[in-house]
Amino acid sequence: MSASLVPIPATLVRILPEDPENRLFELQTTTPFHVGPGQFVELTVPGSGEFPVSTAGETATGFATCIRQSGRVTAAMFQLDEGMIVGLRGPFGNGFDLTRFAGRDVLLIAGGLGIAPLRGLLHALLEERERYGRIVLLYGARQPENILFREEFEELAANGTVELRFSVDFAPQLGEGDGYICSVGLVTELLQGLQLAPDATTAAVCGPPSLYGCVLEQLASTGIDPDRIFATLERRMKCGTGQCCHCVCAGVTICRDGPVFCLTELRSMPGAI
Ligand SMILES: Cc1cc2nc3c(=O)[nH]c(=O)nc-3n(C[C@H](O)[C@H](O)[C@H](O)COP(=O)(O)OP(=O)(O)OC[C@H]3O[C@@H](n4cnc5c(N)ncnc54)[C@H](O)[C@@H]3O)c2cc1C
Ligand code: FES
Repeated sequence: MSASLVPIPATLVRILPEDPENRLFELQTTTPFHVGPGQFVELTVPGSGEFPVSTAGETATGFATCIRQSGRVTAAMFQLDEGMIVGLRGPFGNGFDLTRFAGRDVLLIAGGLGIAPLRGLLHALLEERERYGRIVLLYGARQPENILFREEFEELAANGTVELRFSVDFAPQLGEGDGYICSVGLVTELLQGLQLAPDATTAAVCGPPSLYGCVLEQLASTGIDPDRIFATLERRMKCGTGQCCHCVCAGVTICRDGPVFCLTELRSMPGAI
């Protein structure tokens, strides 16, 4: 049987609650297991099943993944403690091609849990910060308490490493202490007044389908090349290896040929976004 169909064991070395619904799980394997930004793994919770999940960045001992409790298997994952063993298959998918970002300004736009794979991308960019121009992170969450990794991002903004703007769907009147929360409303409103250099910018977007519907073409309308506007798609994945056809959309096998696509590709995939 192909190695990508057989899970390898991984230890949950750290579990950090990020907000009431999401936890960051740091994993360690005994054999090298590198998951690139934008790639995903199939994670097995013993006795319950497996589900696809993105990397949210590398750690000293492996990689981290931010998981929302949304159904049966993720609920079982939330019952696990540090030191326990899960299974990993992968890594799967194409991931973000960092050469498409090199030498350019980078615009990252995340909605909700979409911040998880973009945090993985941001970490990869920061490993060689000098290769990129401005790095701008626009991130929309439901309420201030749902802003994941807030402290980490605010630290990066405070020391000038990234430019940061948060938006939230609901909040009382914004005031002192809200820091980088710039608007109550859609994350796309954060684009206003941003002074982009479209010819020199590569964008990556991750969030719910409703975000893609409005933001991808809006970015193209600012003059950013559709070949340099990337989005990562979620489909119901099973094998992760291009064999079961569960994830096929518009004739494209998302687990194998994606999940990261540029806008030019997405325009030729009806129903993809
Ligand atoms: C490439 C990829 C990367 C992902 N990355 C992450 C991540 O970083 N963190 C994270 O928490 N989740 C991520 N997901 C989603 C995660 O796989 C699902 O939440 C998980 O499969 C739910 O499993 P469950 O058994 O707990 O829920 P189920 O009982 O199977 O479903 C619970 C609810 O989630 C919906 N759902 C299940 N799977 C999907 C899916 N693939 N897409 C959309 N809706 C779904 C169901 O319709 C249902 O409403 C990713 C999915 C993909 C395909
Ligand atoms: S998940 Fe099986 S083909 Fe993509």
